[in-house]
Amino acid sequence: MSPNLLLNEQVADRRLRGLPTLHLGFGEARLPLLAELAQVFVEAARQASYSPVAGTEAARVAVAGYFQRRGLATNPSDVVLAPGSKPLLFATVAALDGDVYLPAPAWNSYAPQVRLAGRTPIGVPIGERYGGLPEPRLLRARIEQDRGLGRRPAAVIVNSPDNPTGSVAPRAVLAELCAVASAAGLTVISDEIYRDLLHTSEPYVSAAELLPERTVICTGLSKSLAIGGWRIGTARFPASSYGNELRDQVLALASDLWSTMAAPMQAVAAYAFAEPPAVTNRLRQSRRLHASLARACCQVCQSHGAAVREPAGGFYVYVDFTERRSAFARHGATDSASLARLLLDDYGVAVLGGHHLGDAPERLAFKIATTGFIGDTDEEQLAALTAANPARLPHVRDRLRWLDEALAGIGGDARTTSTGCHSA
Ligand SMILES: Cc1ncc(COP(=O)(O)O)c(C=O)c1O
Repeated sequence: MSPNLLLNEQVADRRLRGLPTLHLGFGEARLPLLAELAQVFVEAARQASYSPVAGTEAARVAVAGYFQRRGLATNPSDVVLAPGSKPLLFATVAALDGDVYLPAPAWNSYAPQVRLAGRTPIGVPIGERYGGLPEPRLLRARIEQDRGLGRRPAAVIVNSPDNPTGSVAPRAVLAELCAVASAAGLTVISDEIYRDLLHTSEPYVSAAELLPERTVICTGLSKSLAIGGWRIGTARFPASSYGNELRDQVLALASDLWSTMAAPMQAVAAYAFAEPPAVTNRLRQSRRLHASLARACCQVCQSHGAAVREPAGGFYVYVDFTERRSAFARHGATDSASLARLLLDDYGVAVLGGHHLGDAPERLAFKIATTGFIGDTDEEQLAALTAANPARLPHVRDRLRWLDEALAGIGGDARTTSTGCHSA
């Protein structure tokens, strides 16, 4: 089972046993359902027939419009919808013939998906400042080495903003990566599921702008609109004969695996991807909330000496306490697995260790899903969504303090002064 889902079960089990637990290990958006989405869903509930494999015309037109508003000319025929972006990522990898490069660390499902597709996942370390993509020079060297060994590299996955570091790749870095991919004939799979949760108004650059003929974008509504359980995902294929071929292979696989996205969800997708004011307003609120929590979380971790890459989107913070190894070792935390275990067993704080994400296991690194600070009840979540400064709400501060005290306990409370959330 995926380590994040396993951790989820462990947390549920602890709570059943009455053990207080701060769950910072699951990437669920945890926000109340937008009323307008519920309305569309209820009105479409009677639609019970199979939809076309690629999605209804209305849903595909809405998705094409969504990309067009982001500067990417898109034909509805280049769009495929599916029950979540996970199956689309898998089907795209399965349609390619060769090995797949991943950033290390990366979201925990990429490597198993690549293996399930019968390909080899190859983790390439991220750079010092940005996560979500292999460091381009390391990638170039790795491709040469792999070719020398007779491997057949086929694709590279880019995730911006990414899970786990929350980084947004700047144009120059992404351009370098795309140049390496282009020279090697790789397909870029650009996972943009956190794109609508950018923390600042800095312009976003998609790999599809830089390498249009070989970039497939995967995205969905699970994170941006907090409807992961409704399973709405989509992919945009390049408008080229290569893109058409890839799309047709994905559709062939879809027709044998999941047939189509659920019919009521086609209606929800058609509504949400058209981005009416209710949706754009929710996205604005969510962005402010996630930015505030990421900043506050960074400050707590940095005050205990963590190295953190600056999160600029999504809802994750990836912290690395390797520099504090000797203090942490005194409490039994000698690698990411023992650190995550100690945090859970002794302090009730659930996080996902970096070893589950392809990071070097000896690093004292883990991922925090900052949505764990939002609160569990509808009232808490709504208050967080609408507050001018969510990190100052009492229930959020209590949770931030919980993490603060856990880190103070493990680190022996030798604090460093934080100057805010900057790259380390
Ligand atoms: C980076 C990334 N990509 C894709 C997904 C899958 O999302 P879904 O299948 O709900 O669209 C997730 C969910 O955790 C994720 O973090």
